[in-house]
Amino acid sequence: MTVTIIGSQLGDEGKGGTVDLYGEGADVVVRYQGGDNAGHTVVVGEETYELSLLPSGVVRGKTCVIGNGCVVNPETLFDELDALRERGLDPDVRVAERAHVIFPYHRRLDGIEEEDKDEEVGTTGRGIGPTYEDKAGRRGVRIGDLLDPEVLRTRLEYVVPQKCAVVEDVFGKEAGEELDVDDLYETYRTYGERLAEEEMTVNCGSYLQSRIDDGDEVLCEGAQGTLIDIDHGNYPFVTSSNPTAGGACTGTGLGPTEIGQGEIVGIVKGYATRVGSGPMPSELAGVEGDTPGYDGDAGEDEENLATYIRDEGGEYGTVTGRPRRVGWLDLPVLRHATRANGFTGIVVGHVDVLAGLDEVKIGVSYDLDGETIDAVPPTTEQWGRCEVDYRSFEGWPEVDWDAVASEGYEAIPENAREYLEFVESELETPLYAVGVGPGREETIVLENPVE
Ligand code: IMP
Repeated sequence: MTVTIIGSQLGDEGKGGTVDLYGEGADVVVRYQGGDNAGHTVVVGEETYELSLLPSGVVRGKTCVIGNGCVVNPETLFDELDALRERGLDPDVRVAERAHVIFPYHRRLDGIEEEDKDEEVGTTGRGIGPTYEDKAGRRGVRIGDLLDPEVLRTRLEYVVPQKCAVVEDVFGKEAGEELDVDDLYETYRTYGERLAEEEMTVNCGSYLQSRIDDGDEVLCEGAQGTLIDIDHGNYPFVTSSNPTAGGACTGTGLGPTEIGQGEIVGIVKGYATRVGSGPMPSELAGVEGDTPGYDGDAGEDEENLATYIRDEGGEYGTVTGRPRRVGWLDLPVLRHATRANGFTGIVVGHVDVLAGLDEVKIGVSYDLDGETIDAVPPTTEQWGRCEVDYRSFEGWPEVDWDAVASEGYEAIPENAREYLEFVESELETPLYAVGVGPGREETIVLENPVE
């Protein structure tokens, strides 16, 4: 049986916490897309682990797999592994031989392209897009190729001159050591040797299927979120992979029937956040440089509200440290995600962050050019023109959330429950858990699909 955890908004919903919670009953945790752009935080007691590539389950001693749909920077892989070992953990991590490798030239090109664009995507600069481009262009290097020096050399000799030409002739920049075939070959062959020595590589789909056939529970951990999915997100302000449920099939090698007969859990942050540029109809105030056209003119009240939510929620990027844009919960986004992913349940988190406000709002529909619509329109330009219709809720007080978490759902302040139940009924999807703080014990579980 599988359980797939997916971000229902624009990433940063707090998936790591749910993977950690539900992962307790899982035997294997697999990431199926993305790379070291996926900052996730796992809090265990006093310890905080910040990861960008390894699946969150690694902290709990689960077998963790980086699926074939991922792009892997071996330097990050080994840095994160070594850092966990230094903290006394014994991580069990496998990497799909079909996953693609991020090279230094991918990161360089990511930066060059961002600089060159009139309207930046605001990427994490980790080389994610350029690596997926090479995958689709059939010129990528896969993890399995690192184990075969001859294949590695042949692939690099083919691709590196093309990258040099792009850097020099298209962008007029100087090619540096990130485009030296001999250096790359030596460094990546060595990574291959380490992968082989530590017996880390797997044939992902068959490995996972055999674990399922043996009765094991597999938890598929999505990175990023539905609205930055390359197909279902707000193109071009997207990542280059499929965080949505279909990506869990292509990115693990498990069939749609296997993933579909399991549970698909949508992670919802109780308000909206966004990193980088692009539309955000329910945004409060703005972040200069990221919010299109914003020059700090939202007014003091709205600015204070945005800052309050940002600071209370710690809304600063795990990977980049950038302040995130914040706004009210947006139901059209959640309806879009519920349909695209086929959620069987939702987890709503960060409910504590909104405590203490007099009024809390939910965007219930959009007005697009005079027409009322209830889900995200297909083009990003249309989405940018949407005006939000809000429903207002009375705020809830600051309470002892640890006590609430131990007492259970009924201990959540009544106004917050009203808010949660409104979301549940609008999405026609049951509420599986409510997060009232960052730690595992600060989540109230109504339904655990991995039991
Ligand atoms: P990339 O994935 O680095 O190519 O970035 C593409 C877009 O996805 C940018 O807008 C990033 O800010 C966004 N993005 C990538 N990873 C994350 C994440 O983990 N959380 C939120 N946004 C992300």
